[in-house]
Amino acid sequence: MPDPLRLGIAGLGTVGRGVVKIVQRHADLIAARGGRPVEITAVSARNRAADRGVDLSAYAWEADPVALARRPDVDIFVELMGGAEGPARAATEAAIAAGKDVVTANKALLAHHGQRLAEEAEARGRVIRFEAAVAGGIPVIKALTEGLAGNQITRVMGVMNGTCNYILTRMESAGLPYAQVFAEAQGLGYVEADPTLDVGGIDAGHKLSLLAAIAFGTRVSFDAVDLEGIDRVSIEDIRQAADMGLRIKLLGVAQMTGRGLEQRMSPCLVPADSPLGQLPGGTNMVVLEGDSVGQIVLRGAGAGEGPTASAVMADVIDIARGTRLSTFGRPAASLVAPVAAKASAPAAHYLRMTLQDKPGALAKIATVLGEAGVSIDRMRQYGHDDATAPVLIVTHKTTRDAIDHALAGFAATGVMVGQPVALRIEPV
Ligand code: HSE
Repeated sequence: MPDPLRLGIAGLGTVGRGVVKIVQRHADLIAARGGRPVEITAVSARNRAADRGVDLSAYAWEADPVALARRPDVDIFVELMGGAEGPARAATEAAIAAGKDVVTANKALLAHHGQRLAEEAEARGRVIRFEAAVAGGIPVIKALTEGLAGNQITRVMGVMNGTCNYILTRMESAGLPYAQVFAEAQGLGYVEADPTLDVGGIDAGHKLSLLAAIAFGTRVSFDAVDLEGIDRVSIEDIRQAADMGLRIKLLGVAQMTGRGLEQRMSPCLVPADSPLGQLPGGTNMVVLEGDSVGQIVLRGAGAGEGPTASAVMADVIDIARGTRLSTFGRPAASLVAPVAAKASAPAAHYLRMTLQDKPGALAKIATVLGEAGVSIDRMRQYGHDDATAPVLIVTHKTTRDAIDHALAGFAATGVMVGQPVALRIEPV
C-alpha cells in the first residue's frame, strides 16, 4: 500500500468538522479513488475545548496554525480558517515555504494574495487548490480548469452568495422589506460576522475575481470588480419586477470585451423563468459560456458543512491521485495583468421613479432620456396617490453612462419626487 497522504487541518468550524467527518467516514472510498490512504495527522483551531461532535483524539493538536503548517508529518495544509490576513495568510505562507501543498476554502485570501501565493507555490513545485472557495459544493473550478479547458471562455456569470439569494428570495415570497429579512437572516446565523461581506457583495466579488482569472488567463484583480450590494434593493422594486416577469438577483458577471475585462457584482434583473431567475433561497448557480461548449449551468449548495467539505475533499483526492494543476489553470507567472473595462456592456435597464402628477411631467422625463440617447422600450404609470404618480420604464439596450447621464438630468426637471431607481436587465 502506498504511503498515506497526511493532512494538517487548520480551522475546525463548520467546514473543518465536515472534512474530518468525510475522512473518517469514507476512508476506504477515498483510498480507492485517490490510490493511497488519506489521513489526518494534526489539527488546529482557536478553542481546543469546544465540542465539535467529532472525535479528534487521534490527531496531534497545534495551538498555532503556522506550527501546524510546518509540521514534517503534514503533506497538505488544509486552510479552513478564513480571512485575507492574520493567521490564515501567515500559515498559508508558512506552508508554501515549508514545501507543502495547500487546499483552501479561503476566497478572501486568494482574491487579495492569490497571485503571489500561486507564484511562490509553483516556483517550489507545490499546488494550491481552492474548489471550496467558490460556490461551495459546486465543482466550478474543476469545470473551468479541466472540463472546459478546450474552450475560449466568453462569459462567467453567477449567483455566488447564498445569504443574498436567501434575502432576495424571502423578500419576494413573504413581501417583506430588506431590513426585516436581513434581521431574520442574521437571527438564523446566515450572515457573516461582518455583514458587508455578504450584503455588500464582497464575498461574491472575491469568488467572481477568482473565476475570472481562470477563465481569461488574467491576474486576480478583485480591486477592479465593480461592486454593489443588495442593501438598497426595495420590496417595491421586487414587486414591480415580478409584475414584468423579472427577478432581482445579486449577479456576478465577468467577460472579456473589446474594452477590457469587465467584472461586476451587482443587483440585476433577470427573467423570472430563466435558470438564474428560478434559483431559490441559499442556493448558488454558476453559468459558464465557452466558444465550443455554448452555455452550461451548474447549480447547488454554495455553503454549509457537507457541500464545502465535499469540495475540499475533491482537491485532496486530486492531489492523492497525483493531479498537479496550476492554481489558476495555467502557470501563475504567465497570467497577464488585465485591462479593466471602464464601462459595462450595453443592456436594457429598468427605471422606477415617482413623478409629480402634473401636466408635462412625463414629457420632461422622456425628453431627458432622449437627450441622454436612451430609447424607451416600455413605460407604465402604475398608480397614483394625491399628487404623485409612480412610473416604470424599461429602456432599449443602453450604456450605464447614458443611464447615469439621464438620472442626473431627471434631478434637474423639477418633477421628480425622491430618488429614481435604475437596475440593469442582464441578458442571460
Ligand atoms: N456567506 C457565504 C454565502 C458563505 O452565503 O454564500 C460562502 O462564502
